[in-house]
Amino acid sequence: MKTIFSGIQPSGVITLGNYIGAIKQFIELQHDYDCYFCVVDQHAITVPQDRLELRKNIKRLSALYVAAGLDPEKATLFVQSEVPAHSQAAWMLQCIAYIGELERMTQFKDKSSGKDAVSAGLLTYPPLMAADILLYGADLVPVGEDQKQHLELTRDLAERFNNRYNDIFTIPEVRIPKVGARIMSLQEPTKKMSKSDANQRAFITLLDEPNQIEKKIKSAVTDSDGIVKYDKENKPGVSNLLSIYSILENKPISEIEQNYEGKGYGEFKADLANVVINALAPIQERYKELLDSKELDDILDAGAEKAAKKANKMLKKMENAMGLGRKRR
Ligand code: TYM
Repeated sequence: MKTIFSGIQPSGVITLGNYIGAIKQFIELQHDYDCYFCVVDQHAITVPQDRLELRKNIKRLSALYVAAGLDPEKATLFVQSEVPAHSQAAWMLQCIAYIGELERMTQFKDKSSGKDAVSAGLLTYPPLMAADILLYGADLVPVGEDQKQHLELTRDLAERFNNRYNDIFTIPEVRIPKVGARIMSLQEPTKKMSKSDANQRAFITLLDEPNQIEKKIKSAVTDSDGIVKYDKENKPGVSNLLSIYSILENKPISEIEQNYEGKGYGEFKADLANVVINALAPIQERYKELLDSKELDDILDAGAEKAAKKANKMLKKMENAMGLGRKRR
């Protein structure tokens, strides 16, 4: 069975973009692959976090993974910092990564531009992500479009390590969904939907109440055409809403366009709000049961133990390949 690894940062409550681009794929893939899904809290601290909020968000994200359908019998769910092999392997990969290639990462450029106090962790974040993936020998990494460049770097680092030391790493493939790989901001539909957006109306979180969802979709930026049609270049707002509708209802975009022929944006938006509310309702209900439960702690304890077993084997191979420590008799 092939192996999958993917992770999500527990920085704020995850958005509909994270759900569509990542979690929804994970749930579908767990039946056919040996899956490892991670709450990457060490990635979250590359930018300042409030201690108590971070702790809360780790639990929230873990509960949301399970509430959205992750089956702990099938997939391994764990918290990154609870498996120390990740940061140990990350150090080794940092030592083969070049500063130049890290500085070229668009996410680093975006997050550091205009700031004078940028953490070193923000720069060395991709080798940590590479460690996450390579420790599990992942064949496939399901992510949204914005992580593609980090995946390319992961492949480069794995190849460099294999050539320089020993051929121990599987070179992972990226898996990006055909529709929904980049859900856009509801307010600026040429920008991706992000939980760190200062404008709360730009994104829908998985825990938004029905009335918040209605308001946000109603105020989503569209155009003055009044035609419900997919055209990413000229109608980015409507196209984004159509993508969300199509994925959550599992209907082709062309069918939705037909249903709204001759109808205005008002009706389309009202229906889409219901689609989103109905998709999130069962997740939110299960989330509430899970959040402070022993069940969730048990899932994460078992997950960390299983993940550590697998990761530690690869960590040993990496140390042997690089010559770290002593050879044991
Ligand atoms: P993060 O936490 O920013 O996002 C988690 C996942 O959600 C996807 N995503 C989106 N998909 C569609 N539309 C959007 N607007 C949108 N916003 C986010 C992301 O592409 C991602 O798949 N570095 C990663 C976390 C990570 C990781 C890993 C991923 C750490 N280690 C190893 C895969 C494998 C990140 O910051 O994702």
